[in-house]
Amino acid sequence: MSRLIVISNRVSAPKGSQSGAQGGLAVALASALREHDGLWFGWSGERIDTFTGEIDYQVNQGVTTATIDLEDQDIDEYYNGYANRTLWPLFHYRVDLAEYERDFAGGYQRVNARFADMVAPLLEADDVVWIQDYHLFPLGDELRQRGCGNRLGFFLHIPWPPRRLLSILPEAAELVRRMFAYDVIGFHTAEWLESFLDFVRLELGGTIGADGIVTLGDRSVRALVCPIGIDTPEFVELAAGVPARLAYRKMRDSADGRDMIVGVDRLDYSKGLEERFLGYERFLVEHPEERKEVFLLQIAPPSRGAVGSYQRIRDTLQGLSGRINGAYADVDWVPIRYVNQGYGRDTLAGIYRAAKIGLVTPLRDGMNLVAKEYVAAQDPEDPGVLILSRFAGAAAQLTEAILVNPYSAEEVSDAILKAMRMDRAERIRRWRACMDSIESQDINWWRQTFLDALMLPRAGA
Ligand code: G6P
Repeated sequence: MSRLIVISNRVSAPKGSQSGAQGGLAVALASALREHDGLWFGWSGERIDTFTGEIDYQVNQGVTTATIDLEDQDIDEYYNGYANRTLWPLFHYRVDLAEYERDFAGGYQRVNARFADMVAPLLEADDVVWIQDYHLFPLGDELRQRGCGNRLGFFLHIPWPPRRLLSILPEAAELVRRMFAYDVIGFHTAEWLESFLDFVRLELGGTIGADGIVTLGDRSVRALVCPIGIDTPEFVELAAGVPARLAYRKMRDSADGRDMIVGVDRLDYSKGLEERFLGYERFLVEHPEERKEVFLLQIAPPSRGAVGSYQRIRDTLQGLSGRINGAYADVDWVPIRYVNQGYGRDTLAGIYRAAKIGLVTPLRDGMNLVAKEYVAAQDPEDPGVLILSRFAGAAAQLTEAILVNPYSAEEVSDAILKAMRMDRAERIRRWRACMDSIESQDINWWRQTFLDALMLPRAGA
C-alpha cells in the first residue's frame, strides 16, 4: 500500500504509553503505524507563546512522528474549549455540561486550518490520509480546499449523539456537511452510525444508499461500522512478561486472600466513576458478610485538568471515596484504594490479571479498550469476570461480559455478587466468548477493514 498519513490531535510515543492515562487511541494507532511506512502528524502537547508552524520530526520504534506546538489561545479555544468543553460532553450525551462560545468554535476552525496548512505540503499524490477523532472533523474539508485529492478517511473514537442532542450544537449542520469531504467515515458501533445517518437524513435531507454510501448534494461518502480492537497477542504476551508478573505478585500479596475488583479510567465524568463508587457502596451495604472478602482498586489518572467539569469530578470522587472509606473501613481493611496516577501497560496487565473482577462502567463510551485489555490479561485456566456497561461501545462485541446499566447502583451491586460467586466453568465459558471476539476483531482487523474500505472505488465515482 502507499504511504499512510495519520493525523490526530495527540501524538505519543509508541512504547511505554499508559493505556489508562492516554486512552486507547494513542496505543492503537502506534500499533497500526508500526506496520506501514507511516507518518503521524499532530499536536506535540506543548504550549508556545506564538505559533511558528515549525514541525518537529522524530523516529520512534519505527514510527515517524511530525508534531507542532500550539499557542495558548489555540489550546484554550480549540483543545480545552471546543473539543473538550463543547464536543466531548455533547457527544457523550452530557448536554448539561456542554458550553457554547463563538470563540471556541473560532479557535477550533483556526487550529484545523493550521493543521491543514502544515500537512498539505507534506502530502504526496498517492498518500492515504486517515484523520482521527472529534478534534479534527473539518480537517478533511480544509485539506480539500488546499487542493488535496488524496483518499481521505475519518474515524470517530467517541459516540455519535442522537440527532436531537446534536441539533443543540449551533454549528451542527455545518460540521456534518463538511464531513462529506471524506471518502470514508468509520464508527465503533451500529448505534453511533445510525445516529449519524439520522442526522444526515432528517436534518440535512441527505440520502442513504446501498453499501453504506451516504449522499448529500453532489458529495457521497462511505460510512461504516468498524470497532477498534487491541493488539491482542501483544497484550497476552505483556501479561505473561516479567514486569506484569511482578505487579501481579505485588497485588496478590497485598490483597491478602481477598478478591480484587479493578477499574482503570482517565478521570473523566463519562466514565461513571461516581456511579461506580455508589454501586460498590450499595454492595457493601447489602452484603455486609462479604465486605472484607473484597476491595476495589480504582486507578484514575487526572485528565484535562484545565476544564472545570474535570476539576469538579475530581473533587467529587475524592470526597466520595473518603466518605465510603470513612464509613466502612476497619483497621485491617479499606474498601476503596483510589489512586490518581497512571501506570505502564505492562504493570496494568499484571494488575488486571490479579483482579477477580474488571469493573468497567462508563455512562457512555465510544468503545473502551480497558475492557478488552482486562480480558486479554486473564489466566485462561482461571479467568476473572468482566462487568461492563451496556453503554460502552465494547458491549456490542463483549456480549458475554456481565452487562449492567451503570446508573443503577442495584444492578452494579448484583453484578459484583454474581461475579464473586461465579463458578470456574462459567467464568471460562464467558471469558472464552469475549476472547474470541477480541482475537478475531483486533487492532490489525480494525486497521485493515477501514483501509480496505478506503481503497474501494470512491463513493459516487
Ligand atoms: C479519548 C479520545 C482520544 C484522546 C484520549 C485522551 O480516548 O477519544 O482522542 O486522545 O481520550 O484524552 P486527551 O484529551 O488527554 O488527549
